[in-house]
Order: sequence, then structure tokens, then C-alpha cells
Amino acid sequence: MELRKIGVLTSGGDAPGMNAAIRSIVRYGLSQGFEMVGVERGYHGLLRGEFVELTAASVSDLIQRGGTILQTARSKAFATPEGIESAAKIAKDYGLDALIVIGGDGSFRGAQKLCEQGIPTIGIPGTIDNDISCTEYTIGYDTALNTAMEAVDKIRDTATSHQRCSLIEVMGRNAGYIAIEVALATGAEMVLVPEKDKNCPRVQLVNRIVEDIKAAQSVGKKHHIVIIAEGVGGSQELAEMIEECTEVETRATVLGHIQRGGSPTIKDRVVAAQMGMRAIDLLAQGKSNRVVIIKNGKISDVDIDEGLAMKKTICEKDYNLIGYLSRSINNVGQN
Ligand code: F6P
Repeated sequence: MELRKIGVLTSGGDAPGMNAAIRSIVRYGLSQGFEMVGVERGYHGLLRGEFVELTAASVSDLIQRGGTILQTARSKAFATPEGIESAAKIAKDYGLDALIVIGGDGSFRGAQKLCEQGIPTIGIPGTIDNDISCTEYTIGYDTALNTAMEAVDKIRDTATSHQRCSLIEVMGRNAGYIAIEVALATGAEMVLVPEKDKNCPRVQLVNRIVEDIKAAQSVGKKHHIVIIAEGVGGSQELAEMIEECTEVETRATVLGHIQRGGSPTIKDRVVAAQMGMRAIDLLAQGKSNRVVIIKNGKISDVDIDEGLAMKKTICEKDYNLIGYLSRSINNVGQN
């Protein structure tokens, strides 16, 4: 089939760098002779035929902007067999020959289904969580890490001044990647992640933190920073329980959606540009149902079905390192 018109949409939670990816897809796609079309508001917009023609000018002044100009959504209607059939028909009637989907695993499942309905699709991983199994990196992760790191540094200042314990909740409903890297980067005393601590009784979590606080106090530490992934949750309740057990003033801060916005870092802009180019190249080569990924630090791609079947685990080495670094400081009796 001759490829003429390529669509692009963003789906699921937005991530800094999605705009840079859209810009790359559009400008590189145009340079290869394709017509480029944006689908607004993800699969929700696809079901409503919300198409917009994209020119080189439509994506100017965009590379540095967070969010997604195409907007995004999580569509329940699309996730049904009727929804998918209807979306494929709308896309075909409009003349879309292929679709590039920027998002997470859920968005790729949609792309896979559209492909089964005869629409060639390519996925680009975009989520701050870095929780897509088939790729080492997802667009938005680095920016979110930097945002969270800066916030924790600030909270640390005030925690030290008041000799407090600070529980800081970072995003990651099902994944602890943000939590672990932020904990390592900020010198946190402890990290709690869904992969290990989601089902742990609160009392046990509190006991662990309390023991750690006591050990730290014995060597004169002036603050206690605990990074908690959203999936473990309950930071406010934990803070109250810790304060009760230790008489150490404890505060909980939920960083929330601040981590999803802001200007993308250089890493997110560059990866977005490279992934956008790969997506267009794959379609131009007649390939479909693939996800653009980073493998061994390089741009590559994998079949969507294979990619979705993969499992990703947290880096135990980094997780343990947080404890070692915190403990070894205790051993030498410094803050
Ligand atoms: O998937 C990205 C993410 O930011 C998760 O870390 C978080 O759990 C979720 O999205 C929040 O979603 P919403 O913006 O719908 O509250």
C-alpha cells in the first residue's frame, strides 16, 4: 500500500518531550514527502474524528514546551471491540494510511488493536514513569527526575533546619523507577517502592522507618528523608504514625503533577527527536506494529506484541545502594 498520510496522537499521561517528539515526527515526515495529521485528545479524539493538518509551522516554537499540543486523554470507549472498530473506520474514512502513537503500554495496546484492523501503527514510549518493559528509556523520565530532585533538595533544606523527618511522595502508581533514582540523587535515607512495599502492613513500614531514624539520630544526623513512590501511598498517615513513635517532627509532601510538566531536559528533547525519526523510517520501510525503543543505549525497535509481553524489574543494585550510602555515612558518624 502506498503511504501518503500519517497521523500522530499522544495518549495516556502527558510527559515532557512529547511536543519535541511531535515536532520531529511532523518535520521529518514532511521532509520524506508525507502529509502529516494530528489527532487531538488521543484515542478519545480519534473516535470523534478530531483531525488537524500539521505543517512545519504548526510545530514551531514547540521543542522547549512541556505537555502536548495535541492534548491527551484516557478513553474507556476506545478500549472496547466496538470502539476500536469504529476508530479504525474513522481513520480510514479520513484517509489516514498509518498512525504513530506516543504513550505508554495502554496506548500501545490500542495501537496493536488498530493494526489488527488494518491501520499500520508505530508506538513511541512517552511516560514519566519509565515503566515500559521493552525500552530502557521513556520520553519524559529525565525531566521528571530533575523536577523531583530539585523539589527534594529544597525540602531537605527546611528538614535540616528543623531536624525533621520528611516523607516525599513521587509519582509512580505501579513503578518505583522515579523513586529509586530520585532517592539516589538526593542522598535520601530510605526509599519505598510499590514493587517491594505496596502490600506491606503500615505498621511494618513505620517500624522500619523508626529504626532507621533512631540509628541516624545516634550518629547526629539532622534530617531524615524518605522517598515514597505514589503506589505505596499513604504518606500523610505514615508521617503521623512516625511522629507518634519517635517524637521527631515529621512532614509529608506529595509532589504530584508538578513532575509531569515543565520544559523538557536536553535528554528528553534529543531522544524525542531520534525516536520520531525512527518511527517515520519504520513506516516508510513498510513496517508496522512496532515500538521504537532504546536498547543498549541506542535507538532500536521491537514488535509491539513482543514488547508488551516483556517484564521490567527495578534495579536491585541501585535500590540497595541507597541503603549502603545512608548506612556508611552513619558508620563514619557524619551527616
Ligand atoms: O503514568 C504517569 C503518571 O504520572 C503516573 O505516575 C501516575 O500514577 C499517573 O500518571 C497519574 O495519572 P493522572 O494524571 O490521571 O492522575
